Amino acid sequence: MKVLIVGGGGREHAIAVSASKSGRVDKLYCAPGNAGIAQIAECVPIGAMEFERLTDFAKEKEIDLVIVGMDDPLAGGLTDVMEEAGLRVFGPRRNAAVLEASKAFAKDLMKKYHIPTADYRIFDRAQEALAYLEHAPLPVVLKADGLALGKGVLICNTLQEAKDGVKEIMQDKKFGDAGNRLVIEEFMTGREVSVLSFVDGRTIKTMTSAQDHKRAGDGDTGLNTGGMGTFSPSPFYTEEIDNYCQEHIYQATVDAMAAEGRLFQGIIFFGLMLTDKGPKVLEYNARFGDPEAQVVLPRMKNDIIEVMEACIDGRLDEIELEFEDNAAVCVVLASGGYPLAYEKGYPIAGLERFAGKKDYFCFHAGTKFSDDGKIVTSGGRVLGITACGTDLREARQKAYEAAEWVSFTGKYMRHDIGKAIEEA
Ligand code: AMP
Ligand code: GLY
Repeated sequence: MKVLIVGGGGREHAIAVSASKSGRVDKLYCAPGNAGIAQIAECVPIGAMEFERLTDFAKEKEIDLVIVGMDDPLAGGLTDVMEEAGLRVFGPRRNAAVLEASKAFAKDLMKKYHIPTADYRIFDRAQEALAYLEHAPLPVVLKADGLALGKGVLICNTLQEAKDGVKEIMQDKKFGDAGNRLVIEEFMTGREVSVLSFVDGRTIKTMTSAQDHKRAGDGDTGLNTGGMGTFSPSPFYTEEIDNYCQEHIYQATVDAMAAEGRLFQGIIFFGLMLTDKGPKVLEYNARFGDPEAQVVLPRMKNDIIEVMEACIDGRLDEIELEFEDNAAVCVVLASGGYPLAYEKGYPIAGLERFAGKKDYFCFHAGTKFSDDGKIVTSGGRVLGITACGTDLREARQKAYEAAEWVSFTGKYMRHDIGKAIEEA
């Protein structure tokens, strides 16, 4: 069959690698893709938000399955547009992708269906938010309602910081229309864990757990990023926690969406915090995590296309997800300056060292071909270096070893990805 992946980051590269291993795929396309994805798929220069061009392309090439990797096109209804044109699409429709696209929607859903999450209030007007803050316990968490590249969350330690935050989000519109509404949330403490799942509308099958590192600097310092590295599985995610979450969070969420007439088909990513009062939902995403996908998918034994087709056809109950009994660590190599301004266009050396090496993956996030055909940096997060090992320690050691194989001007990484496992 012919498959088209929509997106062009490390997550889409990980999806493409899994799809290329499927016995069912004869031809793989990716729009727009990147220089790494181009090694295994034909990249087509169409942006993820160009719905009409994407649909025309998929019709013309007689694509059998479209996989939408990114949040923006899902929130904008790419699945709906393509389905109307008769295409088969993996990824939720617009009315279900709202689970990620509106934090206010997600919070109200959790409240209505008793799914554990932080207490919260929703505000449409800055004046009311400011008045509420005068008496709110500190620290307090502010969240722009809409999509903001994972950066629309502010944790405020003082009243002044919180007031400045309301101004930034609601009045200065730092995150654009995403800040038309504001969620003000209780601050929680605990370990964070990400659990990704396949959902067919009624049935949910969770994948192995993972943990991201969102801050730019070692020791969780510096600005929030899209994610600087991950490990899987999380040693803190016990069977007891899993049992609780399956019932009170995972299935409850899928049932709630169905009850609301918003059948969810695709990936639900649960961002959880393991608090002393039990696991609570920090956030939902309606897609694979990036870079969570880069540690979870290399460990998955199933044929990814088979699982995605089961989701679309509503027969996920027939599938048993299986993961290798090993561990994986992904270290992101970023451009100096990220998540703020950074330079692009630097040649990347050493990529050939990954060729033919089992257990090592070099997922491209922000790379492209220069005019003279060299692979150069083109984004903030440039590469995700993943290694698998028998346990987290071994995977971590191998990932950091491989992170030294490549070089480019301004390359930086965190040095403590997966360090938390030493406490486990
Ligand atoms: P989100 O995009 O909602 O996952 O938020 C980004 C990050 O902010 C999370 O990964 C947490 O580290 C932190 N965060 C979000 N909500 C809360 C909360 N209620 N209490 C404490 N930390 C939070
Ligand atoms: N790594 C977090 C995310 O994909 O949102």
